[in-house]
Amino acid sequence: MNTLEFFILALCSVFSISIIEASKIESGFSIDLIHRDSAMSPYYNPSMSTLDLLRNADLRSSSRLKRVSLYLLSNENESPESIIIPNNGDFLIRIYIGTPPVERFAIVDTGSDLSWVQCSPCESCFPQDTPLYESNKSSTFTNVPCDSQSCTLLPTNQHTCGKSEECLYSYFYGDKSFTVGELVVDSISFGSNVTIPKSMFGCGYYNNFTADTSGKPVGIVGLGAGPLSLISQLGDSIGRKFSYCLLPFNSKSASKLKFGNQAIIKGDSVVSTPLLMNSSHHFLYQFNLQGITIGQNTLQTGRTDGNMVIDSGTTLTLLEQPFFDNFLTSMKLTIGIESVEDVPNPLHYCFPFQPDIEFPDTILHFNGANITLNPFNMFILFENNLLCLAVVPSNIQGISVLGNVAQVNFQVEYDLEGEKLSFAASNCTDIINIS
Ligand SMILES: *[C@@H]1O[C@H](CO)[C@@H](O)[C@H](O)[C@H]1NC(C)=O
Ligand SMILES: *[C@@H]1O[C@H](CO)[C@@H](O)[C@H](O)[C@H]1NC(C)=O
Ligand SMILES: *[C@@H]1O[C@H](CO)[C@@H](O)[C@H](O)[C@H]1NC(C)=O
Ligand SMILES: *[C@@H]1O[C@H](CO)[C@@H](O)[C@H](O)[C@H]1NC(C)=O
Ligand SMILES: *[C@@H]1O[C@H](CO)[C@@H](O)[C@H](O)[C@H]1NC(C)=O
Ligand SMILES: *[C@@H]1O[C@H](CO)[C@@H](O)[C@H](O)[C@H]1NC(C)=O
Repeated sequence: MNTLEFFILALCSVFSISIIEASKIESGFSIDLIHRDSAMSPYYNPSMSTLDLLRNADLRSSSRLKRVSLYLLSNENESPESIIIPNNGDFLIRIYIGTPPVERFAIVDTGSDLSWVQCSPCESCFPQDTPLYESNKSSTFTNVPCDSQSCTLLPTNQHTCGKSEECLYSYFYGDKSFTVGELVVDSISFGSNVTIPKSMFGCGYYNNFTADTSGKPVGIVGLGAGPLSLISQLGDSIGRKFSYCLLPFNSKSASKLKFGNQAIIKGDSVVSTPLLMNSSHHFLYQFNLQGITIGQNTLQTGRTDGNMVIDSGTTLTLLEQPFFDNFLTSMKLTIGIESVEDVPNPLHYCFPFQPDIEFPDTILHFNGANITLNPFNMFILFENNLLCLAVVPSNIQGISVLGNVAQVNFQVEYDLEGEKLSFAASNCTDIINIS
């Protein structure tokens, strides 16, 4: 079966799953989106400096990029899903699994498809601070038979029949992380009043997260565009739309992740660019970066085919080479302040902060949409008063990544139905306070 047929089949069968709850969440809903390094996060470590946090974040980003890269460069016959990682990500949501519901923090990832948690009886699990999910304690748990259509939503060579005809899956990632287990159905709720009674997710019996040994992650919630992701499972009931407005990372509040009608962003400042999904890696949100204006100078990428990926789990913005070099040269010239010599890895341009710096207007040109970035989308200020450019070169040929620092104080709407990505410059703190 070719990828497209697989995709269409997947959409049809997901539709039948999500229709059950459609009426109840028509108006949409929203949940807290917690930055892993913020005070509300179970990962919060008040003794870490901004630089420590960034170093960790970048470690996460670059191991993630390695996986994305393997995936983007892999040929179509290999199963792409096996390489994208549920990496540590930067954002968490609270989910409640089973009946009675058990609260957990899971990593949300716009670059992943399958959601999964570590499950009992675990054969080989990475350390986790909270008890494992035990399906036999949940009255709403059901198996997925291996001959069901649901089981075929998993990539072709990554599912098989177990001893009791259950649907077994395996995902192996580029950095030697993996999850192997059973596809199951149980209710997942997001706190207050929104429940997906028949959520499909992976119950992992053999898992490893090589990049994180903190004991905190229990699993992943996939917000990618693929057939198994939360977005596809909610499907038409949320109009295949979600949005967020990321707060500055030193904020004491949580950002909101919105679904359905609540996710629609409105107003004169909204601009949209088409999503250019590639059927061979249809769960990544790809669009096109034509160029960047820095002050008076506009640089072109010369690309039209979807050279950029938007990702909630990458901190810095990554630009394809050699475009990055031109961007850096132009930025240094325009700012006109020389870089310090010992620029902390992985950054490329840092200088001492001074209040009278004149930042150039920086505009990202997407197909059909321009967005103007603020200095805080481009630069990070460290404790030692060093101001550093939050843009670094990408190590994937021809692919740039719009990271989450660049997205702060923008409403960002992912509309799979309309096949577009929309942005509106906003004060996310004010939006939280109003709603
Ligand atoms: C839950 O219900 C309350 C009031 O009934 C409402 O204000 C809130 O928006 C709902 N929460 C969600 C997540 O829909
Ligand atoms: C889709 O991705 C594959 C593999 O990365 C690439 O060869 C192909 O050119 C892409 N197709 C489009 C339309 O961009
Ligand atoms: C539930 O499963 C656990 C192992 O995951 C097992 O130890 C326990 O005995 C089971 N409980 C029941 C009631 O079957
Ligand atoms: C899991 O990852 C850790 C950290 O990289 C590694 O030391 C360990 O050997 C891995 N375990 C398995 C079973 O692969
Ligand atoms: C984006 O900016 C470019 C260069 O200034 C301009 O030519 C183009 O019309 C703008 N596009 C939109 C949709 O505003
Ligand atoms: C956003 O609004 C808050 C509260 O009204 C204010 O403190 C903050 O400075 C504003 N942020 C920006 C970037 O304008």
